[in-house]
Amino acid sequence: MTTAETPDTRAASAGGPLRGVKDIPYYQEGLPWVGPPMAYRKDPFGFHLRAYRKHGPIYRTRFRGRVYVVLAGLEANDFVWRNTEVWSYGATNTAFGEQLGSGHVTQLDGDPHKARRKTLKPAFGMEAIARYLPVMDRVIAGELKAIPGGRANLAEVFGPILLRVNSRTTFHAQLTDSMVATLEEFEWQFLFGTNLGRWRHLYYARPSYRRLKSQTFRIFRQLLAERAALESRPMDNFTALEDANREAGNPPLSQWEKENDLYLTLVAGIHNTANLLYWCLVYCASRPDWTARLRTELAAWSTEPFPGMQMFPLLKATIQEVMRLRPGAIVLPRHAGCDFDFGGYRIPAGTPVMHANTLVHFLEEVYEQPLEFHPERYLQGRSYPPKAIGFFGGGTHICLGMNVTNIHAPVALANVLRDYDVHFEESPSFEVRLAVGGNRMRANVPVQLVRRESGGVS
Ligand code: HEM
Repeated sequence: MTTAETPDTRAASAGGPLRGVKDIPYYQEGLPWVGPPMAYRKDPFGFHLRAYRKHGPIYRTRFRGRVYVVLAGLEANDFVWRNTEVWSYGATNTAFGEQLGSGHVTQLDGDPHKARRKTLKPAFGMEAIARYLPVMDRVIAGELKAIPGGRANLAEVFGPILLRVNSRTTFHAQLTDSMVATLEEFEWQFLFGTNLGRWRHLYYARPSYRRLKSQTFRIFRQLLAERAALESRPMDNFTALEDANREAGNPPLSQWEKENDLYLTLVAGIHNTANLLYWCLVYCASRPDWTARLRTELAAWSTEPFPGMQMFPLLKATIQEVMRLRPGAIVLPRHAGCDFDFGGYRIPAGTPVMHANTLVHFLEEVYEQPLEFHPERYLQGRSYPPKAIGFFGGGTHICLGMNVTNIHAPVALANVLRDYDVHFEESPSFEVRLAVGGNRMRANVPVQLVRRESGGVS
């Protein structure tokens, strides 16, 4: 892209001559250097809110050992998502390529990314996921029932359940308990490492991680071999990808492509959805009045046939509100792939940028009383600007698995709330515990799921 084509946000520009990165106000809290990262860790949402209130939609701050230009607010969401070509995903998401192969979707840019997203559509379109609703419902009900004594760590209960759901729906496979444990642990450690910047090399070099990764890929190869030995191919989403590839006239999928498609259809994203479900149950526990109304609505829950989410407005509102209050990816690092202008500043190619994609969730000019859990805000046809929610990111790299989560989350939440009382051993904390950049809970939060007398059939 030439300088003459440099994208900009005129709305956010002061209109005068463009200034340079050094002129962008620096946001400081606490001690020099360590103050901002410490303040972010303590209160990630509040940190960027205070910075935004002080400096507006563009400021600089220190994060992960370097100074980033931060873009925040509605105009930033619009700019970042509308101008995907500005960003080099290859430079930001290098770890995905290193760990999962250089064709992995999230570290591709431009046409190769577009082409890869197109080939993945048959497995991640809404129809391709929603057709499994009754199976998902049955598997989740069965898995919840099988929890011994109903006692579980709420922070870790949904990951394995969703993996088993995927193994009955999007990628048919017979998973042993030990396979589930390995795949789940790999997903956690692998994603954790992607957030570590340059330190990831040390993290991934640990012998325990290398063993875990080789066990994981051994499982992938075993599952693919078992599949190849079947008399007829399962009619799942992995097969849909193979078929679409053949129909497009491409050569058969390589071993790497098969392993990557297997990863995406079986394992990817399970902890993100599990984390969302965790927070849904914590917030529901804080509003017994709302939960009682929700349970009344869920008495009609059925997936055979599924009457549509419009019949469950309270369930939908609960999930929407928790997505707003406890997003998994609070900020998204970006790398300027070319020069661009924003808010009256010229940002040169190569600048590390942080997109505060979820800051808008906490702006009172967009959401009244933004810190409150108030799912009622979504009822009676009330809607918010599409750029006011950054939960799944946006633009051409918007979360590939959003339809998966948008189905898994209501099905799992409906099953838990309709059939169980969730007794917390201790009052749950609302503190956001960060796994480096993202809100990913890995904690011990013991609960007992006690079967409700009035629970529905399962
Ligand atoms: C609560 C659930 C989830 C959350 C909060 C979440 C969040 C996100 C976010 C913020 C992005 C980055 C978008 C951007 O760069 O602008 C993303 C991308 C992605 N997500 Fe998710 N995700 C979730 C579930 C899933 C699931 C279930 C899958 C399973 C396939 C998945 C697979 C991906 C992939 C492959 C990408 C990269 C897409 C691309 O770069 O084209 N995610 N997700």
